[in-house]
Amino acid sequence: MFSTTLSLSDRGLHYGDGLFETMAVMAGQVRLLPRHLHRLAHGAARLAIPLPDLSALEAALQEAAQALGEGVLKLIVTRGSGGRGYAPPEDAEPMLILLRYPQKLPRPDDAQAGIVLRLCTLRLARQPVLAGMKHLNRLEYVLARAEWREPEIAEGLLLDTQDELIEAVTSNIFLVQAGRLRTPCLDQCGVAGVMRAEVLACAERLGLEVEEGRLHLDDVLAADEVFLTNSLHVMRPVRALHGYREWVGGTLVPRLQQTLWSAL
Ligand SMILES: Cc1ncc(COP(=O)(O)O)c(C=O)c1O
Repeated sequence: MFSTTLSLSDRGLHYGDGLFETMAVMAGQVRLLPRHLHRLAHGAARLAIPLPDLSALEAALQEAAQALGEGVLKLIVTRGSGGRGYAPPEDAEPMLILLRYPQKLPRPDDAQAGIVLRLCTLRLARQPVLAGMKHLNRLEYVLARAEWREPEIAEGLLLDTQDELIEAVTSNIFLVQAGRLRTPCLDQCGVAGVMRAEVLACAERLGLEVEEGRLHLDDVLAADEVFLTNSLHVMRPVRALHGYREWVGGTLVPRLQQTLWSAL
């Protein structure tokens, strides 16, 4: 199922023609595996990349997770090799690569103190055809992450070219305002995170009002609480946006954090 070599004409390498999933593994299980497979299948359908049988892929990932115990699995799917130029060859064979990283993953208590963000100067370009997808074209994020080296800054906030709030460099963002959750809609750019989807489902179970909308930096600065989500860190409260604002003593984020972790 997974390849251990890569052709020099692989289209993932030449054009970023493919998708990836970064998955957390705890106690030999892939966290939120159905959500990862769903996003991958949806992205592959949008790019017309044929995937192998999903239940066989699921079984192979579970087997790898059991062998790993705890850490990160990164699955890369490219359209395969070939074609001179951009035109996708009709007979391309998709290439699946699985990278295994044994490591200790963050626990709920690790995020308690909250993290510090900075505002990136890079602006994300709008491209609705690719919006939400976890595709292999990640140069904007490479440049955004190159903007800082200070270890005390955990994440960078990303706006788009119209100054709308989108996400952070490796996370999605949520704001709490008057007991309501607000998160940017991702129909123009950004990655629709599996943990974002899990938080939205969790908020619904808790009966919280949720708005997916067009948000701006001012909304972040006016928020009562701010937090980030991703597969590996689950949920991290934000303690400061460097040079702009600090947050202390929110109550909804700890409650949501507890509910979310107990559902994982
Ligand atoms: C740009 C970006 N946005 C959001 C996320 C969060 O996605 P997920 O919850 O699927 O990990 C990631 C994860 O790496 C990301 O790279």
